[in-house]
Amino acid sequence: MTRPPSDTMPLAAYVCTDEGADVARRAVERSGGDDSALRGGGLSGAARLCSGAPIAQTLLTEMGNIPVDMACDCVTELRATGAEVIVLGRADDIGTYRALRQAGALEYFAFPVTADEILAIQRRPPANDVTPPASRRPCIAVTGSNGGVGASLLARNLAVHAANPRGANMRTALIDADLRFGAQALDLDHDHTPGFIDALRSPDRVDGTFLSATMATLGPQLSLYSHHIRLTQDVAILEEGLPGLISVLQSEFATTVLDMPRGTLLRDGALLQALDTLVMVVPGGYGGVNAAARMIQTLREDAPDLRILPVLSDLRRDAGLTARDMGRSIGLDIAATLPRCDKAVLQAHRVAGTLIDAAPRSPYARAVRDLWSMIGTAPAQDTPARASLLKRMFG
Ligand SMILES: Nc1ncnc2c1ncn2[C@@H]1O[C@H](COP(=O)(O)OP(=O)(O)OP(=O)(O)O)[C@@H](O)[C@H]1O
Ligand SMILES: [Mg+2]
Repeated sequence: MTRPPSDTMPLAAYVCTDEGADVARRAVERSGGDDSALRGGGLSGAARLCSGAPIAQTLLTEMGNIPVDMACDCVTELRATGAEVIVLGRADDIGTYRALRQAGALEYFAFPVTADEILAIQRRPPANDVTPPASRRPCIAVTGSNGGVGASLLARNLAVHAANPRGANMRTALIDADLRFGAQALDLDHDHTPGFIDALRSPDRVDGTFLSATMATLGPQLSLYSHHIRLTQDVAILEEGLPGLISVLQSEFATTVLDMPRGTLLRDGALLQALDTLVMVVPGGYGGVNAAARMIQTLREDAPDLRILPVLSDLRRDAGLTARDMGRSIGLDIAATLPRCDKAVLQAHRVAGTLIDAAPRSPYARAVRDLWSMIGTAPAQDTPARASLLKRMFG
């Protein structure tokens, strides 16, 4: 994503109501601008006009009456120019807030809002900058609260998006930590990697040369460890090597994505300490919510600071609970919803690929990209994005 030149004006506004114009004028003035930075057309008008470098570092846009989907597309288009985007609107539901944030908006404000609140947001780090700080090399585990909910499919797609030059463009390791039943190598039509088991036995002897010699190369930036052991073999002894291996992977790769069985996760506190983020895939039923809540409670005892992002899987509808209901029951907001996409999944399986590559326009691929943005930007655990806003939404 291109960044606006530093001499670009700090704030410009695209409004479509008197209320929007009033607050935008005050915000623009306080940021040193004048009426020339105040334009009509709202969010959709700003997106229609955007081409090349943005007119301002931050665009304050009013959503008006356009549907949320269209608003999200506009935000994504504007973000592609390098500008930050703040959206104002009348909707005060968490769905609108989340959708716009996931589309890349720095913040969404439901009216009434003051210029002070808007300018306070501008001082925060950008919401959609997915480049991690140099010192932070993310290690992301993906697990399911229940079996067969789509955790492995998600891990694979996140890793491919992370490595994709059109995605996050980072050197990425995909690790299939399901030593008994993992199928990443098979599903991606690659040979198994026996070196993975050697690495788990003696992580202290693993270095960059060993990794390059023993990992499968899935692409210029993506390497894979995936190997089956005998079903009767003791898996726990090998899993003890995971934290040590992760620390070597983090020194060699910009990001590490682990496909992690829930049993493995619950067995080892040291493993939890090695993780940066845990993505937990949860089906929309009472069993799923209950399992997720119990898991989160247990994981918190060993790793109170672990960032957990619950994700709703539509693969199994179960009770068809909404993301909002589930978030309330689990005690954490649902970070994304993975739509059921049988046709696109079939298409991807047939070419032993991923939806990110084989069906990049599918709703699933879009959800993966949005989730990746959240992973790069989600605030520390249990810190709502902006408490006052959420409070205002729910009273
Ligand atoms: N959103 C989806 N739409 C359609 N099919 C899906 C979706 N997510 C996963 N699947 C398919 O459902 C099956 C189970 O998915 P997956 O293996 O990723 O689940 P899992 O949670 O890792 O299961 P396990 O508990 O066995 O590890 C696979 O065939 C996968 O391709
Ligand atoms: Mg799996």
